[in-house]
Amino acid sequence: MVFSKSILGLSALTSLVSTCACVDIIVSSTGGNVTNGHQYGFLHEDINYSGDGGLYAELIRNRAFQSSQRFPATLEGWHPINDAKLSLKNLTVPLSESLTTSMNVATTTGQGNLGFYNDGYWGIDVKASNTYRGSFWVKGAYASRSFVVSLQSRTTGELHVAAEVESRSVSSQWTEHKFELTPLRDAPDANNTFAVVFDASGAEEGSLDFNLISLFPPTYKGRQNGMRVDIAEALEQLHPTLIRIPGGNMLEGSTKNSWWDWKNTIGSLRNRPGFPGVWGYQQTNGLGLVEYLEFAEDLEMEIVLAVYGGLSLNGDTVPKDQLQGFIDDALDQIEFVRGPVDSKWGAIRAELGHPEPWKLRYVEIGNEDWLAGAPGGWQTYKDYRFPMFLEAINDAYPDIQVISSGSVFDGYDIPQPGAGDYHIYAEPDTLVAEFGKFDNTNISHIIGEMAAIHPNGGSGWNGPQMPFPWWGGAVGEAVALISYERNQDRIIGAAYAPIIRNLNRWQWEITMIQFTADTVIRSTSWYVWELIADHIMTETLPASSDFDPLYYVAGRNNKTGDYIFKAAVYNSTGGADVPIKLAFEGIEPGATAKLTVLTGPENPYGINDPSTGVNVVKTNRTTVRAGESGSFEFSLPDLSVAVLETRSP
Ligand code: AHR
Repeated sequence: MVFSKSILGLSALTSLVSTCACVDIIVSSTGGNVTNGHQYGFLHEDINYSGDGGLYAELIRNRAFQSSQRFPATLEGWHPINDAKLSLKNLTVPLSESLTTSMNVATTTGQGNLGFYNDGYWGIDVKASNTYRGSFWVKGAYASRSFVVSLQSRTTGELHVAAEVESRSVSSQWTEHKFELTPLRDAPDANNTFAVVFDASGAEEGSLDFNLISLFPPTYKGRQNGMRVDIAEALEQLHPTLIRIPGGNMLEGSTKNSWWDWKNTIGSLRNRPGFPGVWGYQQTNGLGLVEYLEFAEDLEMEIVLAVYGGLSLNGDTVPKDQLQGFIDDALDQIEFVRGPVDSKWGAIRAELGHPEPWKLRYVEIGNEDWLAGAPGGWQTYKDYRFPMFLEAINDAYPDIQVISSGSVFDGYDIPQPGAGDYHIYAEPDTLVAEFGKFDNTNISHIIGEMAAIHPNGGSGWNGPQMPFPWWGGAVGEAVALISYERNQDRIIGAAYAPIIRNLNRWQWEITMIQFTADTVIRSTSWYVWELIADHIMTETLPASSDFDPLYYVAGRNNKTGDYIFKAAVYNSTGGADVPIKLAFEGIEPGATAKLTVLTGPENPYGINDPSTGVNVVKTNRTTVRAGESGSFEFSLPDLSVAVLETRSP
């Protein structure tokens, strides 16, 4: 939808038009479009150790020695204590069919204490206020003895906390042991380890076998097997209203034998085999479908659920005569998420503790089929894969909006009632140049992945990227978000991707939030998205001015009755401030509004550098009052992002 000076129906307002040397904007009270009310969010997939070692709160790395053809089992993360000899074993009695490899801990002297420690995902955050809940499975004769579990510092050598766990371990089967640890003091840093020690003389066979060794801090909203609190809070504070899961490339998997199979991600952790991640590491499947859905529920986010669409990253494509199995699988998945408790998969969901169906209105088929599959796989997507999924899902669930993994801009004449998905990783100039991109398409789209990643002048997927989100890039993202919001009658929402990154091991540079074991750093983009997402419009409204260098959208939240104006200034002439005169039909002289303006550092390439912790984004909040003409008058600096919201009397 384009709202320009030529718009009709503003006659009642023309008396308000002034001749100021400013951008003179008059917002009509009628004639706009209803939005879908959930406009901003993110894609989460396990990239950058952002699932295991990130959002997923498990502290123990390589807790179950999971492996795949691509990633053989290793002892990564595990270290011997005293004379222990650690080795991997595939016992004839494994912990489960899914967890077949375990760690054998053997004594070489038969005396004293021995054991092992884990150094976590590049450290373990230890806080006195936390109770850490752990468990491990053991096999081997070790009667009437105990294990000692502890958290200790590698920096100071100090023991933060230790506990004795009475052994019930026997030779014939696996036995689970549970414990709690409440440290007496905060550790000085994250350089901590978790250890399990036992008495060599009690291990009758000279060794014990361990598996699924797990330790959780308190999780976000206290969910079992849940999310890391500080990362979840940084996401919650973004006011996200949608989440796209579970990827991205991760959904597709590397080959046709290794896509992200949701059935492997539900139920007991003992029954989750893990997943050969596409980002260079084996994943635990601990952050599975239910955990994602619960997280969406906790943050009240609309779910955009991607189902495997028959294409993997190496270009493997499912032939037409074999596709039905995958369609059935997707239908099962949807039934699991939102089917009644008396349906097959709804009953399984209930057994897993969630009888209430989740709300699910958006299902995406595959991911970027125009990319990994091109040209043949993309053609199969258009020829039969998307149409078959679309028909089957809408036959069973007419209210579900099925989304294609490509957009009309990827050369897809999307069959209706399907929607499209547009991804853009670009330089800020490109994001701004695309301001009108969705003005003239009638097909619904989600912007399923977006971020400014290149400095202006850079291009392509593999061109030079910025090390972190930077202020100028964030303003470019604001312009793009505003352009999507102007078309909210047809834009399902916009998702930042990828959203978080472990600074110790990552594959993708530009992410909105960076973290280590004990820190979370919000980037410049975080502040921009937070501000824009904090003001939800239920209706966009026609306004009377052109764009450039001021890009804006106006509308109203019909629940509060407040008018909302969102704007960004990108490259004003000579870097000058842009004076604005803003009138809303029905807003009287003297009315007040809250104006929030974000500005950045002098250097537009300035970043929120994790090594300094300095936030370069400045937030200015003021109350402005409508003058005699009923207009709010204020100026916005170049490279700024602003939101004005009127206050209901
Ligand atoms: O967001 C990172 C990756 O970029 C996603 O997995 C993929 O869909 C895109 O190519």
